[in-house]
Amino acid sequence: MARQATMPSDLGPRVVMALSGLVFVLLMLFGLLMRASQAGMIPVDPALFYQLMTAHGIGMVGTCGFAGAGIMWYFARQYVPVTNGIFWGFTGLFLVGVVLILAAIFLMGFAAAWTFLYPLPAQSGGVWDVNAAVVYLVGLLLVGVAFLILYLDMGWAILKSQGGLGQALAWPTLFSGSTNAPPPTIVATTVVTIVNTIALVPGAAIILISIVNALVPSFGIDALLAKNMIFFFGHVFINAAIYMAIIAVYEIVPRYTGRPWKTTRWFALAWNATIILVMFVYTHHLFQDVVMPAWMLVMGQVFSYLSGFPILIVTTVGLLSNIYGAKVRWDLPLALLTLGVFGWAAGVIPAVIDGIISVNKVMHNTMWVPGHFHFYLLLGLVPMAFGFMLWVTKTKQADALDGLSKILFWAYVAGGLGVVWTFLVGGAASVPRRWAEHLPQWQGVDAVSTIFSVLVVVAALYFLIRYVVGFGGQPSKSEPAE
Ligand code: HEM
Repeated sequence: MARQATMPSDLGPRVVMALSGLVFVLLMLFGLLMRASQAGMIPVDPALFYQLMTAHGIGMVGTCGFAGAGIMWYFARQYVPVTNGIFWGFTGLFLVGVVLILAAIFLMGFAAAWTFLYPLPAQSGGVWDVNAAVVYLVGLLLVGVAFLILYLDMGWAILKSQGGLGQALAWPTLFSGSTNAPPPTIVATTVVTIVNTIALVPGAAIILISIVNALVPSFGIDALLAKNMIFFFGHVFINAAIYMAIIAVYEIVPRYTGRPWKTTRWFALAWNATIILVMFVYTHHLFQDVVMPAWMLVMGQVFSYLSGFPILIVTTVGLLSNIYGAKVRWDLPLALLTLGVFGWAAGVIPAVIDGIISVNKVMHNTMWVPGHFHFYLLLGLVPMAFGFMLWVTKTKQADALDGLSKILFWAYVAGGLGVVWTFLVGGAASVPRRWAEHLPQWQGVDAVSTIFSVLVVVAALYFLIRYVVGFGGQPSKSEPAE
């Protein structure tokens, strides 16, 4: 497919990635502090622990989306006429939302966790003021609106340039084997635009309802419906963040191997199936809500099994076959992108285990859950983001994976696996999640986790410094063979 003759500047996504990298490192420090506190190594007041946990959770999830959007927009602008001003508007609105969220947490004491589960924001038992809840929720709403505006612009650009939704989703390839398919970037961008727009609407609605409830307590909503809306929105959003980041793999790996990543029939099938599958998985967060209709919970289990697999399989098999036998010169960006696909794929395994109803009843409120999502975020999405960042600034980077870059890459792998493993070990021993204070018999694993966390933070800081030093560099000009 032809690239755009003129396209918007890449300054916007570069700035977004710089901010994302900075926030990832800062919030990892918060994570390190929480782990050290659970280990009893650094005393942290429980009220502050829950503020740190709220900031870490919402900050990481928001930044995953922010970085994912930066990656998606960087590549999508090469094919479709997206609007530069809208991207800057998205960035500005997102940052205003972040300022409000941070003020609510650290100046006003809001600490209801990133899931802001109704009616907790408005009923803190005196820990924070209702105004703190309102400021937090308004901040969140602005972030949601920022994404909605971005997706509307992207959706419009895709429709205008691709000749309809079916073409953008590669339906001619899927249903009649046509070879005239849009590139993987466009298929993925279209799917993300659809699912995240659908998710953001109930997300914005429940945030608004929670705001009104905080101000006018007599105005309420059924708590179970609220939970469904929140988890539907949150689950689709974080999945979509990975689906945006994965575009970096589709675009960059072929530039190393010289083999194009094409939209095949299987690729089209996997991404189209995801539109439906990703919508229904969230109910695995509600297995412990016994009042949920049984059919929805059964559906949650079935879809938890099915949802991740189609894209995961086409991406993992695609990556392996793209790299296998190709003469590639390994450098830090390529190593990080490959690690990202590994972390994403392996992270699904503990998620699927947690998605089994009988296991979930015992495991869901334990450290097993942070274990599974840290796997595909810390070892999946975050390395994809850093891999993209270091590829974008490639001309200013040392090229080979050797010396310090090799040591710190492996430090990140070891540290990340250690952080995840210690969460999973805690979960398997039924250590509850979200407890500021841990019993002495749990603290040995917490201490080991703290040491692994230091490795992760140091390595991530190194990736960030390399990006900042290389800012303004250019990616390799080589194009994948057509
Ligand atoms: C050095 C790396 C990291 C460390 C040490 C760390 C540590 C922690 C800890 C201790 C918790 C609370 C666990 C509990 O008791 O429930 C937590 C929660 C969480 N972390 Fe991390 N984390 C790290 C990196 C990340 C990354 C890279 C992401 C996402 C990109 C992330 C996303 C989250 C989320 C969403 C929560 C849930 C917060 C909640 O329960 O409300 N973390 N992390």
